[in-house]
Amino acid sequence: MNRRKFLKSTALAAAAPLIITNFKVFGADAPSNKLNLALIGTWGRGEAHFDALATQNVVALCDVNDDHLAFGQKRFPGAKTYIDWRKLLDDHQALGLDGVLIATTDFTHAFAANWALNRGLHVYCEKPLANTVEEARVVRANYLSKKTKLATQVGMQRHAFQNFNRVRELIRDGAIGELSAAYAWGNRQLRRPGYLPAQGEPPANLHYDLWLGPAPFHPYNPGYFSGGPGANCLQWNMYWDFGNGQIGDMGSHTMDLLWNAVDAGLPTTAEAKGEAFNPDISPVTLETHFDHPANSWRGPIRVGWYQGGAMPASPRDTIDLNKIDHGAMFKGSKGYLIAGFENRILVPFGDDADLTYYKPRAKSDVLPPLGGFQEEWFNACKGSLKTSCDFNYSGLMIEQMILGLVAYRAGQKIEYDGAAGRVTNVADANQYLSRRYREGWTLNG
Ligand SMILES: NC(=O)c1ccc[n+]([C@@H]2O[C@H](COP(=O)([O-])OP(=O)(O)OC[C@H]3O[C@@H](n4cnc5c(N)ncnc54)[C@H](O)[C@@H]3O)[C@@H](O)[C@H]2O)c1
Repeated sequence: MNRRKFLKSTALAAAAPLIITNFKVFGADAPSNKLNLALIGTWGRGEAHFDALATQNVVALCDVNDDHLAFGQKRFPGAKTYIDWRKLLDDHQALGLDGVLIATTDFTHAFAANWALNRGLHVYCEKPLANTVEEARVVRANYLSKKTKLATQVGMQRHAFQNFNRVRELIRDGAIGELSAAYAWGNRQLRRPGYLPAQGEPPANLHYDLWLGPAPFHPYNPGYFSGGPGANCLQWNMYWDFGNGQIGDMGSHTMDLLWNAVDAGLPTTAEAKGEAFNPDISPVTLETHFDHPANSWRGPIRVGWYQGGAMPASPRDTIDLNKIDHGAMFKGSKGYLIAGFENRILVPFGDDADLTYYKPRAKSDVLPPLGGFQEEWFNACKGSLKTSCDFNYSGLMIEQMILGLVAYRAGQKIEYDGAAGRVTNVADANQYLSRRYREGWTLNG
């Protein structure tokens, strides 16, 4: 029995407290029942994963900043270190790797994720999964072709809040009648002047060329690196070549609250309204709208995303949606449901909004808690293959979000053929579906 098969068999038998195989005894935490994992990005958001990773074997670490690598090494002294994630992935067999956790810059996510999948590795990737429509489609298709063997998860860990299930249940069980529209918003506003001017040489501990990776060249400026741990992403994510602003930032988390409840695929249209286009910086104030076809349990719906001060209208003068920094609202034939990440308000309206039309589900049918978000991925790697934010769910979600930016850049409503991945009514808009990368960098290598 090889190691992978062994892990799978032990995971399937996870209900049993003790597992006896080939005359060896393995408890749930026996070393042989642990995954061999690599962490790419060992500081900042990477650190938030240290405790969860410490329950497994961390065999390799990678960071483009020597000091950050040393920080990771302090916690995982036995791990082999790398500054180039491509080299780490090349060594996957020698390392006996089962999977990787990617906590690097947004513009490297789809690259590292594809490369890892192509080497037969399970992947946990921080949000957002992709920076372009093309990246989202390539990494999703790659995962779908391997989903019977590999487990994926995108770092939208708020998904484990019980409220996500409660919102889904209320919508599915008809608490607001027939769903017709859903809106999500975020109020974070990061204004940036434009790409930062050249300022000095990169410090010796930073491998700046590797940091740039696939992104077009921009000269070094310490401003891109001046944020605290876990918040440094806010120093680079507003620049088009490095991120998608709030869509990749809080948008991934907040749209997840909506996405989890509407069971949507790709939209058929996208339109956008926002501040004037800036070639350096993604927009702060923006709203985007999408048409989604009917599915098996609801009719067609409109989905809206609002950011940086743009907001959907409140259904009641007495309810100030601005008090919810990042939230979602669902409109149905009988009322509204308004939700933050951890709470919700039901707002029935009209003469027949007496709630008699709504039958809450039995306690026994209430969706079970997800448990630990990283643990869900560990168990999936060990055999269950089931995660709540896999690359299909998360890939469709981020492709929709980015289509809003495509419409914004096209300056008009676009019609989208989700099967082909093409804008059908504005030929010019197709140029915004992908980006050019620096020579030597391959998205799906
Ligand atoms: N899920 C969440 O709640 C959450 C919270 C914060 C950040 N994030 C996401 O995590 C990611 C990292 O954010 P951050 O604020 O920690 O950013 P950061 O700029 O601090 O980068 C994190 C680490 O990755 C390293 N790094 C950057 N590029 C690398 C590369 N090509 N190869 C190896 N290492 C590289 C950096 O040196 C740093 O140590 C972003 O994608 C961000 O969107 C998610």
